[in-house]
Amino acid sequence: MALQFTDTPQAPNVIELRGISQSYDGGKTKIIENLDLLVEDKPMQGQFSVILGMSGCGKSTLLRYIAGLQEPTAGTVLVKGKPVSKENRVSMVFQQYSSLPWMTVLDNVGLGLRFKGISKKERDEKAMEMIQLVGLDGHQKKYAQYPTLSGGQLQRVAIARSLMSNPEILLMDEPFGALDIKTRLQMQDLLIGIWEKFSPTILFVTHDIQEAVYLADDIYIMKHAPSHFVKHIDIDLPFNRTRETKRLAHFDELVHEVEDAMMQIDAGS
Ligand SMILES: Nc1ncnc2c1ncn2[C@@H]1O[C@H](COP(=O)(O)OP(=O)(O)O)[C@@H](O)[C@H]1O
Ligand SMILES: [Mg+2]
Repeated sequence: MALQFTDTPQAPNVIELRGISQSYDGGKTKIIENLDLLVEDKPMQGQFSVILGMSGCGKSTLLRYIAGLQEPTAGTVLVKGKPVSKENRVSMVFQQYSSLPWMTVLDNVGLGLRFKGISKKERDEKAMEMIQLVGLDGHQKKYAQYPTLSGGQLQRVAIARSLMSNPEILLMDEPFGALDIKTRLQMQDLLIGIWEKFSPTILFVTHDIQEAVYLADDIYIMKHAPSHFVKHIDIDLPFNRTRETKRLAHFDELVHEVEDAMMQIDAGS
């Protein structure tokens, strides 16, 4: 994979990881070594990049760097050309339900605005817009907990909350991994709708190759022990994805290409 770093000040890359290494136990356990990732700016368009790799290879760790929750042992992490700081925090949606169960859906979605000191009236109005967008209208007064809300509904809460700050970048760490298959397919289409409406840059981790090909503009495949990206696959499917896209012969070709790439890594090449 040829990575090129363009440092034009007018359009900094959205996400840039350079020479990343992660080790623990004073260097005895090497998780990540010499990893580069470049997500370029596509003005007015956003970008949907998917990361695939074995469990434990460091995918969540990468997202935590970008979210400012962890620093690598070595290397540079830039978001829109700048080091990550509290001011340019990036929203993240996790696999586990991350809402506060003692608060209502409405209060969970408006939480970020509450921290910014915005009045209850204003944050409730904004939160309701997002709640409607993710299809949770009528559930806003319920507590954000299982089983009051289903797994799919709780992930909708998390997505609504992450959209409240009008993010240019959204990190999603196996967000649909715990959902049943029908709910998962519905959530994929919800996410495509959100992406088309807001055009954020999304960095998305999944283990599901079909999901990856359906959602992605491009897919990055990670080798492990120690980890870095070994393959970058452009997903040249039509821009407007619908369930019909999955019936294209080229969709299957891409799924096979990704599958083959992953099997090659397992074979140690
Ligand atoms: N404090 C730590 N000490 C040692 N190993 C750690 C520590 N934190 C995380 N790891 C290891 O880092 C690796 C990467 O974890 P993670 O980013 O969660 O992987 P993934 O999301 O790809 O499954 C895992 O193998 C995990 O065991
Ligand atoms: Mg993980």
